[in-house]
Amino acid sequence: MSTVLIVGSQWGDEGKGKVVDFLTERADIVARYQGGNNAGHTVVIGDNKYILHLIPSGALHGGKKCIIGNGVVIDPQALIKEIDDLKNRGIDVSGNLFIAKNAHIIMPYHVALDKASEIKKGSGKIGTTGRGIGPTYADKIARYGIRAVDLLSLETLQRAVEFNIDRINFMLKNYYGAEQISPADLLNQYRSFAGRLSPFITDTVSLINNAYDRGDKILLEGAQGTLLDIDHGTYPFVTSSNTISGGACTGLGLPPSKINKVLGVVKAYTTRVGSGPFPTELKDALGERIQQKGGEFGATTGRPRRCGWLDAVALRYSVMVNGLTGIALTKLDILDGINPLRIATDYKYRDKLLGSFPYENEILQGCEPVYEEFEGWDDDTSGINDYDRLPKNAKKYISAIERFLNVPVQIVSTGQKRDQIIQLKEQF
Ligand code: IMP
Repeated sequence: MSTVLIVGSQWGDEGKGKVVDFLTERADIVARYQGGNNAGHTVVIGDNKYILHLIPSGALHGGKKCIIGNGVVIDPQALIKEIDDLKNRGIDVSGNLFIAKNAHIIMPYHVALDKASEIKKGSGKIGTTGRGIGPTYADKIARYGIRAVDLLSLETLQRAVEFNIDRINFMLKNYYGAEQISPADLLNQYRSFAGRLSPFITDTVSLINNAYDRGDKILLEGAQGTLLDIDHGTYPFVTSSNTISGGACTGLGLPPSKINKVLGVVKAYTTRVGSGPFPTELKDALGERIQQKGGEFGATTGRPRRCGWLDAVALRYSVMVNGLTGIALTKLDILDGINPLRIATDYKYRDKLLGSFPYENEILQGCEPVYEEFEGWDDDTSGINDYDRLPKNAKKYISAIERFLNVPVQIVSTGQKRDQIIQLKEQF
């Protein structure tokens, strides 16, 4: 019996897709527990690059069971496109993809509200991906939501749309000055989506719990990152789900007692997409160099990611709220040739050391990181898959991370490809 949970430890885009793909080899089931098609998990296999938004990265192994849990919000059109695109590239998920009956569905009006709300917020905008994520979770919590199970009955679907549409159109027209949605068009479109998706919709809670009880190896795949968590992130500049490890319990109906390891994916530096405070941001040529070399452009929206030094203050908070048992360090090779390297070990605000990650946005915005400097390395580390072959200073950088976080680094990724990885400890 074993469940390994993979969680993003920073502001997302840590390279979780690659780590999940690597660990899937030994897993029987891979399950996504939150987020939606705001996520973009990039996996490179041989010369082929795949970007998955909703289907767990484990699907690329073929034959593994993939669950989209109840904590995920599903845009049916995006999911169908992903299923079809994979099929065109030789990967057929039918029979292996399971969608939770109680997962909530993104409707076109959620996308319209997301976009309209960003325009209305003006300079205070969150910088969302515009995929309707926030409004879908808002409807779920306000008990207006439409679930995957509702797609199984066309009458229920119609009733649910009719129940919502006046309220939504009132808001779109009168508050946002945006175009209204035609319920007839929407229903036509969603009836056809329902036909395509209904074979996949099932009771995933029993499926995953029975699998655990049987002794299957389960991999839980988080999207986004800890600092984008709706409760524990840098609110309001966050996504609308629980991205932290605890989100896996509610997002899959899998109890905490059935989760055995929590592997935090940590990028060797920090990035952030969208608005919000970012203490170690590099707004200079070095930030741009990391952005270019690291290919730091959103897999979903193509937006450039802001780049900065590794932040041990934010990471210690992440270790605490996720209960990390190990770290998968990614993109180490992007730091090749940068000298010196820096890691933030504390924040200073009005001449005082803070000692921990603050909740106040003004403090996070106004604090100054305190850095420890490290000698860099000139050698090319990309593709190294033996720890002993890493340059001495790269090993020192890794040891410093372990020292600052008090969590062992168990995987080091040195490139985009499947085999560009060092495994220091088996997860299953
Ligand atoms: P939303 O999730 O589209 O509502 O966007 C809310 C915030 O989360 C914005 O700052 C987005 O840029 C950020 N965000 C959402 N998904 C991701 C992701 O997969 N990686 C990094 N940032 C993300």
